[in-house]
Amino acid sequence: MKVTPVATVDELVAFIAACDGTFDSLGPDGDPIDILAHSLQCAHGLAARLPTDVELQVAGLVHDLGHVVDPDDPVGHGEVGAAYVRPLLGPRVARLVELHVPAKRYLVATDARYAKQLSSGSTVSLAMQGGTMSREEAAAYELDPCAQNAATLRRADEAAKVIGRVVPGIETWIPALRRVAEQAQ
Ligand SMILES: [Fe+2]
Repeated sequence: MKVTPVATVDELVAFIAACDGTFDSLGPDGDPIDILAHSLQCAHGLAARLPTDVELQVAGLVHDLGHVVDPDDPVGHGEVGAAYVRPLLGPRVARLVELHVPAKRYLVATDARYAKQLSSGSTVSLAMQGGTMSREEAAAYELDPCAQNAATLRRADEAAKVIGRVVPGIETWIPALRRVAEQAQ
C-alpha cells in the first residue's frame, strides 16, 4: 500500500467535493449513493448524535475516501483512507477511519438488529472483509480505545445511504477540518 497523504485542508476539501458522482468499489450497483453524499450524511448524523466530538464527525466525513485514493484495494479502504488523512488530521481520526471496517464485523457479531439493517452493498463487502468476528476477535477489538467511537461511526455510516436526503454541504465542514488539522500539528 503506497499512499501519498493529503497535505492541506484545501486539498482535502477539493478531493471530497470531487467525489460527487463517484461510487465505492462495488459501483452504483452496490450502495447506490455517491461518496460525497454518503460522506456528508455520515458526518451530519454524527454531529447530531455527538455534537462535541468534532474529530469523530470529521472521521465520518473522510471514512470512505480510501475507495477513491486506491480503487483497486476495496478491502483495504479503511487503512488506505487512514494513511491518506493521518498526517493532516492526526492519529485519532486516522484510527477511527481504519477501524470502521472491523467495526462492521464487530457489530454484526454483537448486535443482531444491526446485522439485519446492513445494506446489500455492505453485506457483500462484509464477506470480503472477513465476515462476522469471532468471540475472540470481538474481545480483542473492544480493547482499542477508539472501539466504541468507531462502532458509532459505523452505525452512522449504515444510516447515511439515503438518496436525495439534503444535508449541509462540504463548505460547512471547512472550519471543523481546520480546527482538527490545527490540533493535529
Ligand atoms: Fe461508508
